[in-house]
Amino acid sequence: MDDAALDLHRQARETAYSMPLEQINPADPELFRSDTMWPYFERLRKEDPVHYTADSGWPDVGAYWSVTKYNDIMAVDTNHEVFSSEPIIVLPDPAEDFTLPMFIAMDPPKHDIQRKTVQPIVSPHHLAHLEPIIRERAAKILDDLPIGEEFDWVDKVSIELTTMTLATLFDFPWEDRRKLTRWSDVATAGPESGIFSSNDPEVAEQERRAELFECVDYFMRLWNERVNAPPRPDLISMLAHGESTKNMDRMEYLGNLILLIVGGNDTTRNTISGSILALSQNPDQERILRADPGMIPNMVSETIRWQTPLAYMRRTAKQDFDLGGKTIKKGDKVAMWYVSGNRDEDVIERPNDYWIERPRVRQHLSFGFGIHRCVGNRLAELQLKIIWEEILRRFPRIEVVGPPRRVLSSFVKGYEHLPVVIPTRT
Ligand code: HEM
Repeated sequence: MDDAALDLHRQARETAYSMPLEQINPADPELFRSDTMWPYFERLRKEDPVHYTADSGWPDVGAYWSVTKYNDIMAVDTNHEVFSSEPIIVLPDPAEDFTLPMFIAMDPPKHDIQRKTVQPIVSPHHLAHLEPIIRERAAKILDDLPIGEEFDWVDKVSIELTTMTLATLFDFPWEDRRKLTRWSDVATAGPESGIFSSNDPEVAEQERRAELFECVDYFMRLWNERVNAPPRPDLISMLAHGESTKNMDRMEYLGNLILLIVGGNDTTRNTISGSILALSQNPDQERILRADPGMIPNMVSETIRWQTPLAYMRRTAKQDFDLGGKTIKKGDKVAMWYVSGNRDEDVIERPNDYWIERPRVRQHLSFGFGIHRCVGNRLAELQLKIIWEEILRRFPRIEVVGPPRRVLSSFVKGYEHLPVVIPTRT
């Protein structure tokens, strides 16, 4: 960290501990962009683990609870009877004229049936089929990287690999695969994200919707091709032939597509970039990894904890519920801050260290818990494992040569840009 960054973190710590507790508003995306949310969560875990923000400052978010300790998060995530995933799993409420049903934001029984429809895509059998395909693509991506010159790891490796995998899962036209990356970004972007041509929030929102309609129109063509053909092991064919999904309307199809696109894309992308950053900041850990590639699975799990690519999931209370001495009222919004639970000093040993030899390295909250626990967790781990096996075969060093640019979001915790240089090949 350079002096300016150290100053920023010192200031954040002072502010986090001196401001009135009730004003702490961890959903502020600026805290995530500057990576200064840590002392706020640390204070909440110590002084107010179930915390109420009465006014977030955003009308579509309003008031919300923050659950910040590991065991409290587990208690909420595993209690779907009280804590509903409907109507949405992010803090901003859905626009009334643009709701996107998707099974991550549904309760049983509909959730369970739709989840079962896509589950075969990540069965051990299908993952074994995917492994050589992912490996061949990972190898090609790495072989094409420039040596001795700066490039953006996010764009050239993380996005490319996860987009290729996603295109394979959908059996999506190969030459158009970067559309998936764009739709993934558009789906999670707020009007302030800067990825639209207009900065006017209303115009940006209209642009966002127009792009999402392009997405569903494109996928509708693929659906029409596949619904009249015999079932195949790709996600579109599975949805088109699935008993519980074959009659979905356009918005529900779009909602579930976005779930699968974002679920399979941003999260894994940001973990791949996170692994490069974490190892460059912790050279002792990189030495351990390079001395014993058998440590790759450990490193992958530790990176998923350390990165926590989805910072929280929202639930909505269906009835009054007492948690940590507070009463969450029926209808209240609750953010389960995985990013904070993963740094809980009472459950995780040396939580702020990146430590690939950590005991119980798979013990983290990044994939959630309970009936919505990530469907794609083994696929995400597989992609990370393969890319690192192939990196270790090729490159003795990857240098991070500048600070990362982080995403402006308190939901997707990740990177827009990570400048690196690979000095030599093995
Ligand atoms: C659900 C994280 C990769 C597809 C979730 C949830 C989290 C999560 C936190 C919600 C859990 C809850 O509410 O309890 C991650 C992380 C990933 C990752 C950190 C990578 C490191 C993937 C991949 C796929 C995927 C590769 C693609 C196949 C899904 C789906 C759901 C989900 C479909 C909804 C499950 C349900 O509602 O039953 N993921 N995910 N995820 N994830 Fe992932």
